[in-house]
Amino acid sequence: MALEILLSEEQIQGRIDALAEQIKADYGEEPVLMVSVLKGSFYFLADLSRRLGHNFTMDFVQVSSYGDGKSSSGIVQIRKDLDLTIEDKHVLIVEDIVDTGATLNHLRELFGTRRPKSIKVVALLSKTAARTVKTPIEYVGFEIPSRFVVGYGLDHAERFRNLPYIAVLDGE
Ligand code: IMP
Repeated sequence: MALEILLSEEQIQGRIDALAEQIKADYGEEPVLMVSVLKGSFYFLADLSRRLGHNFTMDFVQVSSYGDGKSSSGIVQIRKDLDLTIEDKHVLIVEDIVDTGATLNHLRELFGTRRPKSIKVVALLSKTAARTVKTPIEYVGFEIPSRFVVGYGLDHAERFRNLPYIAVLDGE
């Protein structure tokens, strides 16, 4: 399968520098719990968190809505919940990509019931044209077209996660 590069490693890393500066400036010295949505966001969390200070901690949640296909089922299942409580904490959800918005909307609603101090979202990629569920995203890395992309954590049937860039699968 041929790959067409959409965002280079340099573009991704440069944008993460800027996102980290903005996030640091906005939270100041407040403690923040970053919640990484597995599996796709693990490279993004690793690169973003290393640019942030000691007041940023991490936890993980795993959801599924895609299975092995290329389109969302719309049904969001929690496969692994958080280990930590979020009551009275600033929560920053770290997402790889927001497509229909169903996953993010579900997580915002779920975490909202646990009485955090605040909830914000940082998403590396957003396919705004594909959105069917409107949900706010405070920090967006890149707006991309509604095409199926892989790399930098994103997979197709578990493959291509370990590419350092983001690419469209040929034939899309
Ligand atoms: P949503 O619920 O439709 O917004 O989809 C969110 C999830 O679907 C993301 O966290 C990804 O895991 C997956 N996803 C959406 N678009 C893509 C894509 O282009 N490539 C790989 N995974 C994707």
